[in-house]
Amino acid sequence: MTYNLLKGKKGIVFGALDENSIAWQAAKKIKEEGGTFTLTNASIALRMGGIHQLAEECKAAVIPADATSIEDLENLFNRSIEVLGGKLDFVLHAIGMSPNVRKKKSYGDLDYAWFMKTLDVSALSFHKVMHVAEKLDAMNAWGSILALSYIAAQRTFPDYSDMAQAKAVLESIARSYGYRFAKKKVRVNTISQSPTMTTAGRGVPGFDVFYEYAHKMSPLGNASATDCANYIVLMFSDLSRMVTMQNLMHDGGFSSSGITEAVITSLYPHDKTNPSS
Ligand SMILES: NC(=O)c1ccc[n+]([C@@H]2O[C@H](COP(=O)([O-])OP(=O)(O)OC[C@H]3O[C@@H](n4cnc5c(N)ncnc54)[C@H](O)[C@@H]3O)[C@@H](O)[C@H]2O)c1
Repeated sequence: MTYNLLKGKKGIVFGALDENSIAWQAAKKIKEEGGTFTLTNASIALRMGGIHQLAEECKAAVIPADATSIEDLENLFNRSIEVLGGKLDFVLHAIGMSPNVRKKKSYGDLDYAWFMKTLDVSALSFHKVMHVAEKLDAMNAWGSILALSYIAAQRTFPDYSDMAQAKAVLESIARSYGYRFAKKKVRVNTISQSPTMTTAGRGVPGFDVFYEYAHKMSPLGNASATDCANYIVLMFSDLSRMVTMQNLMHDGGFSSSGITEAVITSLYPHDKTNPSS
């Protein structure tokens, strides 16, 4: 069912690599809800992924940008305003990458140049996006800017490595820039999403196990990329206009659960004292 929640709204969607990407699913939902947008990714991802197929489906222009480059971001915002015919109402930052995770470095033996890269790509890029948007006066009043986070910002998940620090910084940037952008009535939030089977997700060692664990620890189960896309639409719509500077849990209840019947049953399948066995 569609509600035309984003009719007339314009924006930029970062991070659609392939159809598993959260940004890919978000782009499709935004389109269904009447929004128009440009799609962007780093040049190498544009060559590897199938973004042009998505662009055709969504009738969206593709504008390459490395999200760590101010010059690329300025070009992206200027061209997006040109192509879309006016200032923007929403921006989705769905970007994450850690060379230390990719190269399976242990947390006690991180490469510090790569650590800086992790922070730059996965967190500071969010600041750069908003810095450029503000400098170019690219956002309409009551616009909405979102980035995607993970609960490793608050709790330790060992194999998530330096991405945990990146997510903590990302969430902090949302609060600080959200305060600043409120003067222009622009809201800024992060959505903390369940583990999701995407290229970035699968890149974390042992991902299958913590995907299964999170599923069992979430009373509603893991939220999928499509569920996340629906939440993104809500956050871009006028229905959430007073929500800002928040880290919004979108995790089927994981973050509020101490233990669940599903976890107890998997640990003690034959325990007669366990009412769920
Ligand atoms: N998959 C999960 O389990 C999960 C859970 C919570 C949060 N998230 C977050 O969701 C967001 C989207 O990731 P995803 O899971 O859809 O994976 P994905 O691999 O599909 O998307 C990550 C994107 O980041 C882009 N990217 C990397 N470096 C870039 C750069 N320098 N400039 C521009 N773009 C760059 C990649 O090209 C890719 O499109 C990330 O922030 C990720 O950390 C993912």
